[in-house]
Amino acid sequence: MRADKTSEQKSKLNIVVAIDGPAGAGKSTIARHLARHFGLLNLETGAMYRAFALKALRLDVPLGDSAALERLAAETDIQLKPGDDENHVLLDGEDVTGQIRNQVVTDAASRVSVFPPIRAAMVKRQQEMGAKGGVVMEGRDIGTVVFPNAEVKIFLDAAPEVRGMRRYDQIGQVGQTGQRGHGDAKPVPPPEEVIRDLRARDERDRNRADSPLRPAPDSFLLDSTNLTLDEAVKAAEATVNAWLAKREMADSQR
Ligand code: DC
Repeated sequence: MRADKTSEQKSKLNIVVAIDGPAGAGKSTIARHLARHFGLLNLETGAMYRAFALKALRLDVPLGDSAALERLAAETDIQLKPGDDENHVLLDGEDVTGQIRNQVVTDAASRVSVFPPIRAAMVKRQQEMGAKGGVVMEGRDIGTVVFPNAEVKIFLDAAPEVRGMRRYDQIGQVGQTGQRGHGDAKPVPPPEEVIRDLRARDERDRNRADSPLRPAPDSFLLDSTNLTLDEAVKAAEATVNAWLAKREMADSQR
């Protein structure tokens, strides 16, 4: 898996910024901002699990069959193409970006991501993509597993009700097909249902045996329950700036 060349040339800082946290904590907004602000590539690893889940759904591969999923992963090519606004995801060469945000794929992504062989395949690709540095990578296990030596690690969190309401607002804007800017025939589920689904996904992501969602011991914990997303973005930016200032100081003392 490769990042595209033009974006690669844009990167100035040779660091890895790892952003982990549960759904609705604000990871994508913050990652997008940091990427723009510091000239880094923004790689959204959840989109890879989503694209793989979409393939399993399309082919009717049972979402609980680890061996069948492993065989499927061996014959699947997933590429992330960082864009200015969001990542484009290519599944075996097909751009599936507009098909991976609906509730069915969201739920399936969380299910297939519990299996170690699937995680191993994704992690390997993610490590290849970030090997040269100059990236903001967001997901669940970036600071703990994918890049345990990342220069900056941020763990984002917020109360489930707050995250659920953010997700609810997002579904309202995006529509249930998951295509930004396109309306949709399906009604938006009520907030209680969105919060319930989010809790179920949290439960799975946090309690799976392999690489559960948890903060790396050396991560900066950022709880955005009582912050606007804008304030959370500023706090994340300050964390990267603090790291850069520390590095500059260390360099000047050499
Ligand atoms: O970040 P997201 O909501 O797009 O992620 C979708 C699912 O993929 C999420 O429920 C868990 C899984 N995932 C993961 O296990 N590890 C990652 N690094 C990213 C996502």
